[in-house]
Amino acid sequence: MKYSSIVALALAGMVCCETGCNNQAGSPLNPFAYQIQKSVTSSNGAVVSAHPLASKIGIMILQQGGNAVDAAIATQLALAVVYPGAGNLGGGGFMVARLKNEQILAIDYREKAPAAATRDMYLDSTGNPVMQLSQHGHLSAGVPGTVAGLFASMKYAVLPFRQLVQPAIDLAEKGFAVTAEEAASLNHTQEAFRQYNTSKIAFIKHDGWKGGDTLVQPDLSETLKRIRDKGQSGFYEGETARLIVSEMKKANGIISLDDLKNYEAKERQPVTFQYRGYTVVSMPLPSSGGIILQQCLKMIEQRDIGKMGFHSPQAVQLMTEAERRAYADRAAFMGDEDFVKVPVKTLTGNTYLQERMADYIPGKAGSSERVHAGKLPPESEETTHLSIADKWGNVVAVTTTLNGSYGSKTIVSGAGFLLNNEMDDFSVKPGVPNMYGALGTEANAIEPNKRMLSSMTPTIVLKDNAPYLVAGTPGGTTIPTSVFQTIVNIIDFGLSASDAVNRPKFHHQWMPDELFVENDFPAAVTDSLQAMGYTISARGNIGRTELIKIEKSETGRGYTFEAIADKCGDDSAEGY
Ligand code: GLY
Repeated sequence: MKYSSIVALALAGMVCCETGCNNQAGSPLNPFAYQIQKSVTSSNGAVVSAHPLASKIGIMILQQGGNAVDAAIATQLALAVVYPGAGNLGGGGFMVARLKNEQILAIDYREKAPAAATRDMYLDSTGNPVMQLSQHGHLSAGVPGTVAGLFASMKYAVLPFRQLVQPAIDLAEKGFAVTAEEAASLNHTQEAFRQYNTSKIAFIKHDGWKGGDTLVQPDLSETLKRIRDKGQSGFYEGETARLIVSEMKKANGIISLDDLKNYEAKERQPVTFQYRGYTVVSMPLPSSGGIILQQCLKMIEQRDIGKMGFHSPQAVQLMTEAERRAYADRAAFMGDEDFVKVPVKTLTGNTYLQERMADYIPGKAGSSERVHAGKLPPESEETTHLSIADKWGNVVAVTTTLNGSYGSKTIVSGAGFLLNNEMDDFSVKPGVPNMYGALGTEANAIEPNKRMLSSMTPTIVLKDNAPYLVAGTPGGTTIPTSVFQTIVNIIDFGLSASDAVNRPKFHHQWMPDELFVENDFPAAVTDSLQAMGYTISARGNIGRTELIKIEKSETGRGYTFEAIADKCGDDSAEGY
């Protein structure tokens, strides 16, 4: 085992490890002294997620004989406690997996519109959208899907649920030390917590949070125990359901007992396609992510992008034009296929995609029709991704979300978990950009019980029919384009796993017609792109990619796992 980089945690009173310290994965979990590791190489399994404690719990489950699915369930439950901004019980997500028997899976536990939702529920009397309502508070919440998703995943797990949930219960009940980053994030949200909650909640601290403070969540621990003891109905029925509905009644929320009881996770057919001899497996609708990824990769496949060079203006332009076209299709056609007909076969067909690029002119910026120039959100794009691989050849990619940071900011009183604000991922009004500046049309209009369109792109790449990459990221509309770049960075540009994740990224989403680049994107490249006619907007980090790269071990038996956590945040990789 080798840790190539260890980042010291800014916890008060903690002694942090320098590069090269011993393997911590085998040591007992200490929620009050732990380390962030950005990179780890191992031979038995790897977990990378947005929080070191969650990654470590995933590894402990693998060490106890669990497979990658068991570890994914336990890691998600742990994230719901230690990473409340996006880890969740009150949100939704997607799992893409490839099992050792070569079965591929896509489990959809996206939130749904409540039965009482109506198409114009976020419009005022003059027909203008009231984004405050779709983005904050009780009415912004869709029916949560996460707990149903965990139980749908249990079909592929080998350990009892009781064992997978216990670490999360302990963390909620006994507490854990928050990182400096989490403390800052909680402090930033104090006012919103006060505004959207009527009862006492664990996240409000009158003198402010600092790194090393203990966060205890007794209500959440009781909710987790009900789920442990009663299974899925411990959340969707009985006491937890009653608490959700009584919270709804406090402020015009519309989720009902029937909405909760009727919620079902669904197994879908994954998006699968070939890219330069590799097999890519990703999430289908109601996420646009897999389709956008397929469109982007197939639009560039005919051209030798590797020869153009990583971060060359030519390569960035080619990828940008592919992204522009994919996002124009997203806005026009994509929505929940259970409700609308989406021409997926056409959108992903080779002929169609080659025709899409017919008007691409190297060296000259394309142009999106300027209808409504949406802006990327000032708010963080808070979703979270975890990648897991085990020694048996099972690989799992999960992206899960509350939508915005801390979702609706509303905690279910007495149940201790945050509700999502996922209703904003619908097209609140056709042609009006949502929180992520994404446009939508009829296909993504609100309808009772419909799932809102997502961009989440949990993805697995196979090489010679064996697991090769497990990838994904948060970041709203920047998710598919970040996964696109990560894959191209490795397959076409030959970057190391760490560089593929951490070198500056860019993003185009058709509208607004701007090329977003991370602040540290090379200036010489943006100058060239500007000269081609692109409008460049520098911004903060794009996504937080969690990647595992897998090679067959030198002996030909087993694997070598290289797990990379994004340079941003508390994201942390574990292996054993
Ligand atoms: N809430 C972000 C997404 O699902 O794309």
